[in-house]
Amino acid sequence: MRKSFLSLATPGVQQLRPYLPGKPVEELERELGISGSIKLASNENPLGPSTKALEAIQKHSGSINYYPDGGGYKLTARLAQKHNLPTQCITLGNGSNDILELTRAFLTPEHSAVFSEYSFAVYPIVVQAVGAKANIATAYLETHSTMPLGHDPQALLSCIDDSTRVMFIANPNNPTGTWLELDVLKQLLDKVPDHVIVVLDLAYNEYMDEALRPEINTWIDGYPNLIVTCTFSKIYALAGLRIGYSISTPEIADLLNRVRQPFNTNLLAQEAALASLDDKIHLTQSVSLNNAGKKYLQQALAELGLESLPSMGNFIAINLKQEGLPVYEKLLKKGVIVRPVANYNMPEYIRVTIGTAEQNQRFVKTLAEVL
Ligand SMILES: Cc1ncc(COP(=O)(O)O)c(C=O)c1O
Repeated sequence: MRKSFLSLATPGVQQLRPYLPGKPVEELERELGISGSIKLASNENPLGPSTKALEAIQKHSGSINYYPDGGGYKLTARLAQKHNLPTQCITLGNGSNDILELTRAFLTPEHSAVFSEYSFAVYPIVVQAVGAKANIATAYLETHSTMPLGHDPQALLSCIDDSTRVMFIANPNNPTGTWLELDVLKQLLDKVPDHVIVVLDLAYNEYMDEALRPEINTWIDGYPNLIVTCTFSKIYALAGLRIGYSISTPEIADLLNRVRQPFNTNLLAQEAALASLDDKIHLTQSVSLNNAGKKYLQQALAELGLESLPSMGNFIAINLKQEGLPVYEKLLKKGVIVRPVANYNMPEYIRVTIGTAEQNQRFVKTLAEVL
């Protein structure tokens, strides 16, 4: 009999459980032989991409026989201008997920990384893949008055030890939607020792109330140990193209670039991202659609007698007070794909992405039926 290769994998990889993505519509329809399904499972933008991005893709599609610009000169320059920082502060990633993985530049089996319970599933994967230790901070309790299951700054700080090199903070956090106020976040950063790189994951930043969004350039000046990660997958609606970036000091960007693949962002993604940055109307419409959808869903869920966590993202975590997985499966059968979050240790919750008005209504109606 052939020997299993599991024993050949590194200890971290042997224990690793892969990331579970949202179920694609095509897969569900193939499996159940149904049509007309909706996917509210991966926090994508239901408005679709900017027409400017689509035009840019069309315009540049004849050039895909060439490698992309490895440094992403034009996009990097545009992002530097947007954030009012030198180009050397920007690192492009194949989605912001790619940047999260570049933090392996700081982690070995002798090191640890700190992140909160119920925070983004990629953090433990990144840490474990390199055999580093995860120091997981206890989150606020479900009974917390304002931020149930949210990041607790004190708990995060108390998980730092001499071996810690990286701390991940998602603001707002996925899958909870909870957030830290700017002054609280600042007080936290003030207390993080110099030997810890703080990765502030702002994947949903544009969905937050304006008063909650940091002025990134002054933060980079004030906190040289900070890496801010941003994405074009959410509000810019380019999830399928895989493009994101980080903002840090040039010194940290240089270290990230040492472990970055030479052509990690593709040519069409670079061009589409560049064009998207010029479409302010698409951005405003996306924010408005999300705000209206959030209000509708929060009210409709309350009317169904369901509690949901406060959210500053384009998704809501709903407390079903019963096992979430069977409810998820019943919704699937009716062509509504949401996200079960038992893998986040939240077995009684499901997470729903805020969709178009029509999708939100269908979700509420279907949820009421299956409950
Ligand atoms: C908190 C958070 N960070 C990062 C990402 C990664 O997004 P992407 O790689 O598409 O930029 C996600 C995706 O859902 C997320 O929820």
